[in-house]
Amino acid sequence: MMDKLTASVGTALDRFIAKRQEQFPYATGELSQLLRDIALASKIINREINRAGLSDLGGAAGTENIQGEQQQKLDMIADVRFTRALINGGETCGIVSEEVDDIIDTGNHHAKYIVTIDPLDGSSNIDVNVLVGTIFSIYRRRSPIGRPPTMDDMLQQGTEQVAAGYVLYGSSTMLVYSTGYGVNGFTYEPSLGEYFLSHANMQCKENGSIFSINEGGYNTFNEGLKEYIRRCKEREYSGRYIGSLVGDFHRNLLKGGIYIYPATSKYDTGKLRLLYECNALAFLAEQSGAMATDGKQRILEIKPTSLHQRSPFYVGSPKMVEEAMQCLEDYT
Ligand code: AHG
Ligand code: MN
Ligand code: MN
Ligand code: MN
Repeated sequence: MMDKLTASVGTALDRFIAKRQEQFPYATGELSQLLRDIALASKIINREINRAGLSDLGGAAGTENIQGEQQQKLDMIADVRFTRALINGGETCGIVSEEVDDIIDTGNHHAKYIVTIDPLDGSSNIDVNVLVGTIFSIYRRRSPIGRPPTMDDMLQQGTEQVAAGYVLYGSSTMLVYSTGYGVNGFTYEPSLGEYFLSHANMQCKENGSIFSINEGGYNTFNEGLKEYIRRCKEREYSGRYIGSLVGDFHRNLLKGGIYIYPATSKYDTGKLRLLYECNALAFLAEQSGAMATDGKQRILEIKPTSLHQRSPFYVGSPKMVEEAMQCLEDYT
């Protein structure tokens, strides 16, 4: 496996991408450009999120997405911004977005990549000024160049990702991504309008003492999961759950911990979506020494059958995910 790019902290994102591309003699620059397109869209959304309270961008849009969720205005704005950036960037032939029922045909039929995206993750937190994020995955298309994107292009299992990442719109804005050679985090400097490497080669701790789960569903959890939660409490682990998957994932990646969204009475296969939440974070998890399963199998090996399908999600420090899975096996 190629060595991870050992760039120094402070390297600008553009320079980092260019250096990475140099390591691939046959790279033609499309993936680099696609990553730049995503970074550009995130800067625009960052500005709109920061002003949401002062403009009319907060609150519900009055529409519902295919998930049956009340779409927030910023869900729609983020979706439009990313879609427009990817269309104009020219490197993406098709998009799957949480906010759009069907495949988005960008018209760039010569392009060789497809993108799946959660434009705004944790949108229930927007109006209360709690961290939200964006999650994305990039795959090579499987259909011939020159034609519209196909369902087969979109329903690829997570092991086929060429890159994945997330943006955190928090106390600072960060872009964290991987192209399969380690995970690197970049912090946005608004006064310069640029991301700079701040978290080189991010590694998840093998074990941890933070567990993230919405215990509101506790009474509906299966016995195995209840047993694992009991053990976390007996050990007086910290319960941390902010309701934005990206924020909970990022904290656990930095400090060690486990995030669980199990099957519940409301979501019998879990709430999180495989194509644009679980797969991207599972890719980053495995690139940083963490683990991601549906309670039984690697998330990345699940063969998708529909664009918006959901999956139970156990992700974080490998020792914690393994113990949770053992509890599911032994007690259910
Ligand atoms: P989204 O805002 O993109 O629909 O995702 C929300 C997800 C995830 O971000 C979060 O961890 C989870 O939903 C919270 O769900 P509960 O409110 O059911 O705990
Ligand atoms: Mn949503
Ligand atoms: Mn989400
Ligand atoms: Mn979302």
